[in-house]
Amino acid sequence: MTADLTPSPPPGVDPNTPSIARVYDYFLGGKDNFAADRELAEQVLTVAPNARTTARANRDFLVRATEAVAEAGIDQFVDLGTGVPTSPNVHEVAQRINQDTRVVYVDNDPIVLCHARALLAGTRPDVIAVEGDLREPKEILENREVTAHIDFTRPVAVLLVAMLHLLTDEDGPGRLVEAIRDRMVPGSYLVLSHVWDDPAGVARAAAEEYARKGASAPVVPRTRQQVERFFDGFELIEPGLVHLDQWRPTEGMINAGVDDRFGLCAVGRKP
Ligand SMILES: C[S@@+](CC[C@H](N)C(=O)[O-])C[C@H]1O[C@@H](n2cnc3c(N)ncnc32)[C@H](O)[C@@H]1O
Repeated sequence: MTADLTPSPPPGVDPNTPSIARVYDYFLGGKDNFAADRELAEQVLTVAPNARTTARANRDFLVRATEAVAEAGIDQFVDLGTGVPTSPNVHEVAQRINQDTRVVYVDNDPIVLCHARALLAGTRPDVIAVEGDLREPKEILENREVTAHIDFTRPVAVLLVAMLHLLTDEDGPGRLVEAIRDRMVPGSYLVLSHVWDDPAGVARAAAEEYARKGASAPVVPRTRQQVERFFDGFELIEPGLVHLDQWRPTEGMINAGVDDRFGLCAVGRKP
């Protein structure tokens, strides 16, 4: 008899339901994914061959935007919909600029929390990971761990990167952003990226694959106008709402090209 050496998933993790976090991890070349996640990812690539490049471009935007906001003086970050830890993580980027930066990671996927806590255990006390569902924004903003860690009387950066398109209109993504904005003092920042409802319908075709395979959350592409509306009450910093590879590009960065643009992003400052 041969022993089954397949590692068992951590408690609470269902390996048979494709998880948004693990599919994204697969696109980024990570190892924290199961067969069901890889199957869905490969299916998505048949209708959206640039999904992998888009995931990379999204993660690179997150890094550049975190740097920009940290350089503007922000030393507290709330990363909502964190994803499986991917180097460099938000705290690593921000703490390169100010080593006293505090970061809260929030996600509702058990594998994300398991890895985030393992990664952070024994490191600095200024970085924590909290379980929370963004469909309940009040609970997150009033969570005692969050409020003990983040001083909302001072400017803060809230990251909603590749996150709001996982909420349907009924889930209230606008309500979530409003609750965050109301909690922020002037000088705070909102960092946001979102799957674009491209005219060729590629993002919608990919979204259908997520639905067909019963992924852990739906994917809801939105138009430019719909994404822009999430920034009501914020002033967009340069260069405004653009495609992922157009936000303050750096030398040597992947330039997606016009046919490879399925994400929109921007950084807003509360005046
Ligand atoms: C595509 S990943 C993005 C990760 C990271 N923000 C980035 O852009 O690199 C989206 C993350 O949002 C999380 N998520 C999805 N729906 C959520 C919800 N309702 N509440 C909290 N987290 C959620 C998923 O578990 C996943 O980790």
